Amino acid sequence: MTYTDKGVKRYTITSALPYTNGPVHIGHLAGVYVPADIYARYLRLSGEDVLFIGGSDEHGVPITIKARKEGCSPQDIVDRYHAIIKQSMADFGISFDIYSRTSSSEHHQNSAAFFRKLYEQGKFVERSSQQYYDPEANQFLADRYITGTCPHCGNDHAYGDQCEACGTSLAATDLINPKSTISGAKPEMRETKHWYLPLEQYEEWLRQWILDGHKEDWKSNVYGQCKSWLDAGLQPRAVTRDLDWGVKVPVEGANGKVLYVWFDAPIGYISFTQQHCGGDWEKWWKDSDTKLVHFIGKDNIVFHCIVFPAMLKAEGSYILPANVPANEFLNLEGDKISTSRNWAVWLHEYLTDFPGKQDVLRYMLCANAPETKDNDFTWHDFQLKNNSELVAILGNFVNRTLVLTHKFFEGKVPQVNSHTYTDIDRQTIAELATYPERIGRAIECYRFREALAELMNLARLGNKYLTDTEPWKLFKTDANRTAAVLNLSLQICANLAVLSEPFMPFSADKMKRMLDLTISTSSATPAWRQAGSTTLLCVGHALQAPELLFEKIEDSVIDAQMQRLATIKKQNEETSWQPKNVKPEVAFDDFGKVDIRVGTVLECSKVPKADKLLQFKIDDGMGCRTIVSGIAKYYTDPAALVGKQVCFIANFAPRKLKGVESQGMILSAEDKDGRLVLISPSQLVTNGCNIG
Ligand code: MF3
Ligand code: ZN
Repeated sequence: MTYTDKGVKRYTITSALPYTNGPVHIGHLAGVYVPADIYARYLRLSGEDVLFIGGSDEHGVPITIKARKEGCSPQDIVDRYHAIIKQSMADFGISFDIYSRTSSSEHHQNSAAFFRKLYEQGKFVERSSQQYYDPEANQFLADRYITGTCPHCGNDHAYGDQCEACGTSLAATDLINPKSTISGAKPEMRETKHWYLPLEQYEEWLRQWILDGHKEDWKSNVYGQCKSWLDAGLQPRAVTRDLDWGVKVPVEGANGKVLYVWFDAPIGYISFTQQHCGGDWEKWWKDSDTKLVHFIGKDNIVFHCIVFPAMLKAEGSYILPANVPANEFLNLEGDKISTSRNWAVWLHEYLTDFPGKQDVLRYMLCANAPETKDNDFTWHDFQLKNNSELVAILGNFVNRTLVLTHKFFEGKVPQVNSHTYTDIDRQTIAELATYPERIGRAIECYRFREALAELMNLARLGNKYLTDTEPWKLFKTDANRTAAVLNLSLQICANLAVLSEPFMPFSADKMKRMLDLTISTSSATPAWRQAGSTTLLCVGHALQAPELLFEKIEDSVIDAQMQRLATIKKQNEETSWQPKNVKPEVAFDDFGKVDIRVGTVLECSKVPKADKLLQFKIDDGMGCRTIVSGIAKYYTDPAALVGKQVCFIANFAPRKLKGVESQGMILSAEDKDGRLVLISPSQLVTNGCNIG
């Protein structure tokens, strides 16, 4: 029973299948799996029939590249990461009904059959084209296997699909001096044949279905991306590739060809449904009273809103997604999350650093989810949300209520007479009753941040109620009234235990344990509809001992995480360093105008009141001169420089720096970490001699 869906009998919920070329991180969780899991758990609590599908996307070129780099097989790579990812999903309580993988034989068979069906119905067009071929490795080259010079920015390490230096997307044929990354050979053009899905034939239909049909209910970021694709006009899309890792193309004359990873992967949702349901799978994909919802990140929008629906339409017997709630991206401390640069908080590592704190991360990622725009994860914010929201609001309320009940009423739900109720009780009860619907409607509209904020408002309501009624003082003067107050407070706790489950399932379980709360699932009224009431716990019911729901996170813990990120950033800067481009040509005569000489340091000291400056006295062969140089940070013992020979420019106009007149400039090299290093001749030379 939902608040907004009419005539829906069951829900097929899919979450994007992560590539198995690395573990999963907070970006995956925030963008896809936490929202999908909240939605699935909420619908189950509302008594709906739900199938929640997940699994690994194990094909595609990045996996073969990683295997080649590590000298193992693609199967080894996907086995390794499938296991890690599956474990992380389970550890974080993502409640899939099945988590499978696209390398399974069931999926190979099913996706091949899907292709064959379209092939036999003439839904593809065959086309030959010229493509790069590696004559030494004897194979066609996927775009990622070709590097060369970017025609836009001159970066020598651009890939055949994009230049990571300037961000331009490229075609392999755009590259200057292309090279195969497999053999290093210069690739040559050869003819190859592929099958294309003629998307342009579906353009009108897609326009109607999305632009006319879903303007109101799809998120504006999703709708907007679809509109700009459709407005630009659709082109035929190749659905096969020359590659040996993937689902073999099941037709004659297709040796050495596999299905394009974006053709087979979404069919995985269907294969996994079949694996899970056996013969009874079709209702999840073919009945018009089934609601199909795809949870994805924004880079997946075109595939889930345009390509996959066109495939389903071409096949003809499937339903289409009712909604595709895509999130934007989550950044980490101001930088794009990146697997290759190790700029991420990995879920399996988080759990070693914060054992048992899955819900803190789930909470943080939902409260901060990139629902309408990219968002930033910061450790500082993480600490703040834990300490001042989870601990101070939710944890505090539940703890106070339980402790007081144990203190005054032996841990049993106290008696209440409704005629002792006052205005504040009645108001609180009336407000409590509105929460299931407030939270539920927000979830049904994919506004998970808002839903979570409402849940916290219920905890705030509880805190305010305790603060206003002060049962800890009241007990001495009015035990009956204290009983009524704690009864209602306990009912609010029980409501929080039910309503927090979609967001924080581990803490919800803990609350239920402390309250010894069981919500009957056999009842005709689903749990979500039982919530909102003041009868979840009956009078006399015995509670368990209170445990802390959340604990404070100290500064030192956050500092350690920041330190780890700082180390990674430094490593990345060093490995990504490249020499600057050479400046435009100059005439020899121009160079000759600069008078560069050698001299010996006679004295060296810090310039007072200037952090960066050292003041040198140099024997320049003609007497001595003073030069001020901005290298104090790198030479903390200036006296140690006395006696060294250095190089300097002798014919700059003198200028004053912090009150000292500098007669020239000392030369130094700037290393890749920005450090400045003085330059000296390799042997002793006469002071004042020229460099040239
Ligand atoms: N592996 C893709 C990604 O991580 C998502 C695939 S979703 C599916 O971006 F539809 F293809 F399954
Ligand atoms: Zn470039």
